[in-house]
Amino acid sequence: MLSVKHNESVTFTEDMLGKFAEIVRRYPEGRQKSALLPLLHEVQAEFGWLSVSAMDKVAEYLHLDPIEVYEVATFYTMFFLQPKGRFNLEVCRTGPCCLVGAERIMTHLEEKLGVKEGEVTADGLFSWRGVECLAACGYGPVLQIGPEYTFYENLTAEGVDELINELRKKAEGAKLDADS
Ligand code: FES
Repeated sequence: MLSVKHNESVTFTEDMLGKFAEIVRRYPEGRQKSALLPLLHEVQAEFGWLSVSAMDKVAEYLHLDPIEVYEVATFYTMFFLQPKGRFNLEVCRTGPCCLVGAERIMTHLEEKLGVKEGEVTADGLFSWRGVECLAACGYGPVLQIGPEYTFYENLTAEGVDELINELRKKAEGAKLDADS
């Protein structure tokens, strides 16, 4: 994954442009706007989030006004408009989960990770945010971690601590593998 910072100009690689062309070909001539959602997914997969520069580049590629891209990207919550951690923990903050402690889980995450909602830890590993119902209302409090969207249910503060430790170990293991 390429990294990109706020206000940094973005370049699409040859590989990305090849994928874009393949996606656009799926739609009838003159209907290239229909490729917007899959293209935004490709860009987010590459950079981890959608910066304004990246959205402007997509607009240029599809011959759209930038506002048409912003409208879509800001509507769907699966698009991230700011950098996120390698593990982005999304906690359900809808009523039924709040009744069984979702807010306590979010407060615990903030204290444990030392970052507020939407911020990224200094090591780049973690971010968290509250999201609407994850359709596991009988098992709250619930959180999910993308991009696989693994679910963790019946959360407690201790369970969150264990999860964070496991994820840290997973990241360290991956780093050791990459270094060897
Ligand atoms: Fe939390 Fe539905 S209210 S999963």
